[in-house]
Amino acid sequence: MIRIDEKTGIFALYTKHTVMILQVVDGFVGMPYYGEKIRLAETDYLCRTDIRPFTPEQLPGEAVSFHSAFPHAYPFYGCGNFREPAFRAEQQDGSDTCCLKYIGCSMYKQKPKIPQLPQSFTKNCNTETLILYLHDEQAGVLAEVIYTLFQDSDIIAQSVRIQNQGEYPVMLRRVLSSCLCLEGELELITLNGTWARERYMQREPVGYGVKSIGSINGASSHTHNPFIAAVRPETTETQGEAWGMAFVYSGNFYACAEKDFQDKTQIMMGIHPDTFCWELESGKSFYTPEVLLNYSCRGLGRFSRNYHDFIRNHIIRSKYQYQERPVLVNSWEAFYFDFDSEKLLHLADTALACGLDMLVIDDGWFGHRDSDDSSLGDWFVNEKKIPQGMEWLGEQIQERNLKLGLWFEPEMISPDSELFQAHPDWAVQIPDRSITMSRNQYVLDLTRPEIRSYIFRSMADVIHEADISYIKWDMNRQITEAYTPSLPAHRQKEFFHRYILAVYEIQERLLKTFPDLMIENCAGGGGRFDCGMLYYSPQIWCSDNTDACDRAEIQLGTSLCYPPSCMGAHISACPNHIIGRKTDFMTRAHVALAGTFGYELDLMRMRQSEIQQIQTQIELYHEYSHLTREGSFYRLLQNACHIAWEFASPNRTEILVTVIQIRNKANQPRMHLKLQGLLPDSFYIFDGKVYTGSQLMRIGIPVPLMWGDGVSSLLYLTAENKE
Ligand code: GLA
Repeated sequence: MIRIDEKTGIFALYTKHTVMILQVVDGFVGMPYYGEKIRLAETDYLCRTDIRPFTPEQLPGEAVSFHSAFPHAYPFYGCGNFREPAFRAEQQDGSDTCCLKYIGCSMYKQKPKIPQLPQSFTKNCNTETLILYLHDEQAGVLAEVIYTLFQDSDIIAQSVRIQNQGEYPVMLRRVLSSCLCLEGELELITLNGTWARERYMQREPVGYGVKSIGSINGASSHTHNPFIAAVRPETTETQGEAWGMAFVYSGNFYACAEKDFQDKTQIMMGIHPDTFCWELESGKSFYTPEVLLNYSCRGLGRFSRNYHDFIRNHIIRSKYQYQERPVLVNSWEAFYFDFDSEKLLHLADTALACGLDMLVIDDGWFGHRDSDDSSLGDWFVNEKKIPQGMEWLGEQIQERNLKLGLWFEPEMISPDSELFQAHPDWAVQIPDRSITMSRNQYVLDLTRPEIRSYIFRSMADVIHEADISYIKWDMNRQITEAYTPSLPAHRQKEFFHRYILAVYEIQERLLKTFPDLMIENCAGGGGRFDCGMLYYSPQIWCSDNTDACDRAEIQLGTSLCYPPSCMGAHISACPNHIIGRKTDFMTRAHVALAGTFGYELDLMRMRQSEIQQIQTQIELYHEYSHLTREGSFYRLLQNACHIAWEFASPNRTEILVTVIQIRNKANQPRMHLKLQGLLPDSFYIFDGKVYTGSQLMRIGIPVPLMWGDGVSSLLYLTAENKE
């Protein structure tokens, strides 16, 4: 609910448990408070404007000190604000000062659409949108700062639309999507890593100055995830305050926290300004991607569940979101590039015998690809490996009552490919400069419509021909030498944003053309794991590291923002191909059960006893996957020896707990694991014994002793009566 009090200039944006307060003071919009729901009476003192400049004798309210101290809800550059701005635009005369003054607001029941970008949708939910109009007359710039509230959530979606109402073009040098102004001691949590080690949590105090993360490599990146949380030093999983920003965007991003001389912290997120500039012609608009704002006063657990529910209900559009996903076997770690139709059909037969639903042919089915050094762009069948063709293979798979999935890396071109022979200029490159090589491939200049059309058509042909149900859309290199001949020199910094818009456009087109197609996004594992991609695909390959112990940590880090049901998770071979660790077969299954579930190993090499275990694992998946998809997720424990999590059904009568023993220690006390989110007065049955919900939450559940490293237990509890 949004309340506007014109007399006090207060806007109060109420979600279920939170309120964001904005206030107009002397023509500027400040954010004096964002947190737990409160009622306001006196409001005059909220945005302090009486900060004294340099000497105490001077009058309060002097302009420079006003802007440098005011908690601007959308800070701009120039006019005396010396903290990081959200907005900076260069005008005809070369100046880039913009003074964004409040000129009015409007409210809507409908959420305005953001053209060309992924965004939260409002299906089955009442929403309210507040638009604040901020204007700079000299520049002719109107900034519309847009906040949308959802009846079923504490998340607020924020984006900004910039209109050029002036006569001349303006160069947008920085248009961040969101800014929060917070007070008091804070710590920042970010998700960082690299290939095969994605999204490890880092928590550190916010000090004076600017602390930032971001990416400039063309994707949201393995290095930092486009997500940031600010918490109190005392915040834990179950208590304390936490604020968050998650970016609905998959390209270069920037997130920063700046603590100023008044001990106030400004947190911002948006497109990375270092690799961005946009010429906004007269009469045109620029739309920023959306940021999902979050607040919880009940710790990080509630904070994450806010995001999980919102992403499931308002970001992931796919109809597969709440459906049981097909259990697949992926050929990558089974065969790598070494396969042919005979091997594939053999794998399909074994998959069928084990009770799987889909065969996914990963890298190597196209062009003349036998290793990673050729054929990207040649999206037609590799005749040496599959001489009968894709249509034939599709029929063979269907005859077995299986579905067929296919890997593509549509954004790339190999120098050794027919496509490159025909169109060497289609690779992203700067004239007269060599192209940096990475994984033996270049990036396609998708900002050019003819290249997008080619990619769409060549993918659509195969999908149609072989009746493909699922595609894995991979992206395995970073963008270097960013440049496109389709833009003039002064607009080259539009490249990165146009590139990601192009990726979105192709995925949107595929989904429109093949409404039943399931896309799993991927980028060298989890290098583009963000809310932008989730708008197009219900799942993203979480990491190439499928070792159960590492994966448990990666999935736990990822769960800070993203729901487990969207994490691509497979059972792979032992010893693990990436790190060589040996973990129990059932542990690998228990970790994959907390994601989309599937296999990534050569089923034909399995012993009879292992085939039987696979059948048991698939039964577990069918029995429990509704909890992963629809349940609430709780992180219960993470230390050097153990990791534990819990899924609770929406009515709390079914509880699934996973405990992984990463490392055993001699003579440990019997573990009593405290559960969360149970009905305190209900009776839960576990292992033939009856416990109360309050007992399980306060004293804990006795975890069976586990023997060895990399082993695990799956504990399933049901409530006997409902209250
Ligand atoms: C990336 C993916 C893998 C696999 C390979 C194929 O690394 O993350 O799962 O598809 O590419 O080359």
